[in-house]
Amino acid sequence: MDAVMSTTSGSASVWLFLLFGFLQLLKLSGNVEGDALNALKSNLVDPNNVLQSWDPTLVNPCTWFHVTCNSENSVTRVDLGNANLSGQLVSQLGVLSNLQYLELYSNNITGNIPAELGTLTNLVSLDLYLNSLRGTIPDTLSKLEKLRFLRLNNNSLTGNIPMALTKIQSLQVLDLSNNNLTGDIPVNGSFSLFTPISYNNNPFLKALPASPPSSVPSTPPSSPGLPVIVFL
Ligand SMILES: *[C@@H]1O[C@H](CO)[C@@H](O)[C@H](O)[C@H]1NC(C)=O
Ligand SMILES: *[C@@H]1O[C@H](CO)[C@@H](O)[C@H](O)[C@H]1NC(C)=O
Ligand SMILES: *[C@@H]1O[C@H](CO)[C@@H](O)[C@H](O)[C@H]1NC(C)=O
Ligand SMILES: *[C@@H]1O[C@H](CO)[C@@H](O)[C@H](O)[C@H]1NC(C)=O
Ligand SMILES: *[C@@H]1O[C@H](CO)[C@@H](O)[C@H](O)[C@H]1NC(C)=O
Repeated sequence: MDAVMSTTSGSASVWLFLLFGFLQLLKLSGNVEGDALNALKSNLVDPNNVLQSWDPTLVNPCTWFHVTCNSENSVTRVDLGNANLSGQLVSQLGVLSNLQYLELYSNNITGNIPAELGTLTNLVSLDLYLNSLRGTIPDTLSKLEKLRFLRLNNNSLTGNIPMALTKIQSLQVLDLSNNNLTGDIPVNGSFSLFTPISYNNNPFLKALPASPPSSVPSTPPSSPGLPVIVFL
């Protein structure tokens, strides 16, 4: 009887131990994305308290304002455009493996674009326009195979436009205008879609070669500042 009892309680404690371990694991894995966003919060100055609901002690960041998750509680959107934020981006953003929309336009964000953003392979839209970003456009962004919108205009970016970006077949909208980019403008791959509007006001960027006659209509674009795709 004693032997049976102790075996039962022994296996019960093994189960409890496993369950506890499993819950700890869940909690840890659930917090990886919250921790990354909290690292971003820690690196930003937020005078308007738009990040007030970002409580890192919650099991995941899915109830935080300006954050959207999928049904598996993994972050798919960060919407912080026009939020009067300053400070810098963080490399930890690279762990948000299901992120589709990173919207940080119209803030006062400084520093570089982290190369780690190139690990966000589900990203559809990277909107960092109208900030004070410096440094180069990371080559790693060419790994964003689902990217449709890349808007980095109105920053202080320098260096070349990475040729590897031409390999992003999904790219539909590109705006690199109003920066300090240098070198050649890629014309092949997905970049065959884009017109000079995408590169406007980069004084050191080499001008596009003259367009072949009749391939590009000379009608003025309807919305200046945005690239326009003309269907013939
Ligand atoms: C950036 O900061 C300056 C000075 O604080 C402010 O005037 C400006 O409105 C800010 N820009 C944005 C887009 O928040
Ligand atoms: C943005 O933040 C600055 C302080 O950094 C503040 O002076 C300004 O009023 C804020 N602008 C808006 C539109 O909230
Ligand atoms: C972007 O920068 C250009 C050149 O400095 C400026 O004329 C334009 O107003 C800026 N765009 C916005 C929306 O502030
Ligand atoms: C580009 O660089 C020049 C010279 O360094 C600087 O005066 C200018 O403000 C820069 N423009 C942008 C948009 O960063
Ligand atoms: C475009 O041309 C550059 C070299 O000029 C090359 O490195 C790149 O792979 C080409 N892109 C595509 C999509 O073929």
